[in-house]
Amino acid sequence: MTRLLIASMLVAALGIAGCGDKTGPDGKPATTRTPPPDPNSPGVQAGKIVFQDNCQQCHQADGSGTTQARTNLRGVFGRLDEGKIRDTIVHGRNFMPGVPDLSKPERKADMDHLMEYLRWLTAPKT
Ligand code: HEC
Repeated sequence: MTRLLIASMLVAALGIAGCGDKTGPDGKPATTRTPPPDPNSPGVQAGKIVFQDNCQQCHQADGSGTTQARTNLRGVFGRLDEGKIRDTIVHGRNFMPGVPDLSKPERKADMDHLMEYLRWLTAPKT
């Protein structure tokens, strides 16, 4: 718990320090980059539960994946666009089974929260 607290404080501190940047490491102006979601926001917290129920057995609780190729989800938003990520989740890919249930209208909130959580996983961690 303490480690988590320290980690989120560091993330917050980095976020503040990064605000003055004209351009980021990706060379894009800071204003065009979406800030990472707050890990304590309701969306990220709800998405974490969806992730724990459906994904973490293969992708690990922290999204770092296993030795199996392409299971590391940290940085996935930089590699794939959101449409492709949603498509992979619903239909699966190679050794990953799809979760078609998440495409149902009544699961829309779960899917959106899952995106929030994946976005948070994507953000650089200390
Ligand atoms: C049974 C194990 C398993 C489960 C459960 C699973 N995945 Fe995967 N996932 C994989 C594997 C294996 C790959 C690599 C697929 C490939 O080789 O193309 C993958 C790939 C992905 C990718 C593409 C990563 C990239 O860099 O291309 C995303 C995004 C993803 N998974 C998200 C999820 C999410 C979100 C869930 C939960 C809804 C989930 N996965 C559940 C095994 C799993």
